[in-house]
Amino acid sequence: MAINIKFSLVLLVVVGIFMAMFSIPVAKADVYEVKETKISAYFHDYFSVQYTPNATDFAVVGFPGKYWNFTKFGTLCVFNDLVTEGPEPTSATVGRLQGIYVPTSFNGNYLSMFCSLVFTNEAYNGSTLQIQGTVDQFGGVMEYSVTSGTGKFRYTNGYFTMEPISFYEPTSYMLLRINVTLKHF
Ligand SMILES: *[C@@H]1O[C@H](CO)[C@@H](O)[C@H](O)[C@H]1NC(C)=O
Ligand SMILES: *[C@@H]1O[C@H](CO)[C@@H](O)[C@H](O)[C@H]1NC(C)=O
Ligand SMILES: *[C@@H]1O[C@H](CO)[C@@H](O)[C@H](O)[C@H]1NC(C)=O
Ligand SMILES: *[C@@H]1O[C@H](CO)[C@@H](O)[C@H](O)[C@H]1NC(C)=O
Repeated sequence: MAINIKFSLVLLVVVGIFMAMFSIPVAKADVYEVKETKISAYFHDYFSVQYTPNATDFAVVGFPGKYWNFTKFGTLCVFNDLVTEGPEPTSATVGRLQGIYVPTSFNGNYLSMFCSLVFTNEAYNGSTLQIQGTVDQFGGVMEYSVTSGTGKFRYTNGYFTMEPISFYEPTSYMLLRINVTLKHF
């Protein structure tokens, strides 16, 4: 009986060691939980064909001798727009939307955009989202894909909508709302 108990204890220890040896690597296989984050914000775009103070979105290059505009095939535009929590430019800053776009349909209706949302707010300061897609710029809601991210948004993907809210012709000022839905770890 005493021997049996001893043997059982030894067996238990041996089995324990084996379990520890083989179960640790299994336990280490990372189990990530997928999180969903939704962000709603506004951005402020001041377009100009030429360099103008206070504009934030410029046509920088196009076909030589042709008219450049955001509606003209092949006009490359660069922008750096303020993103805020509310529709007022003075409301809390979320970050900046910065990148390039170019009309890529011959009639100028569709544009291709590549940009980043660079966060400077407290929640996501320093993190970025990479946004790209080709959209009908006159079709109302424009939907882009979020292809990746950095910082708090590493391994992110999702989608990004932009909808024009208002337009003020004298300064070519357009207010747009963005809604972002992300899946990340
Ligand atoms: C640029 O903005 C400043 C500050 O709001 C304003 O005083 C100035 O008149 C603006 N300039 C132009 C060209 O719109
Ligand atoms: C650029 O195109 C828009 C839309 O067609 C037009 O309203 C605007 O006047 C054009 N810009 C210039 C500088 O002509
Ligand atoms: C964001 O980070 C920068 C650089 O580290 C820092 O200067 C700034 O104060 C931070 N902003 C917020 C809102 O935390
Ligand atoms: C964006 O979000 C706002 C607030 O949740 C909502 O009212 C609006 O319909 C959304 N827009 C799109 C294009 O999903």
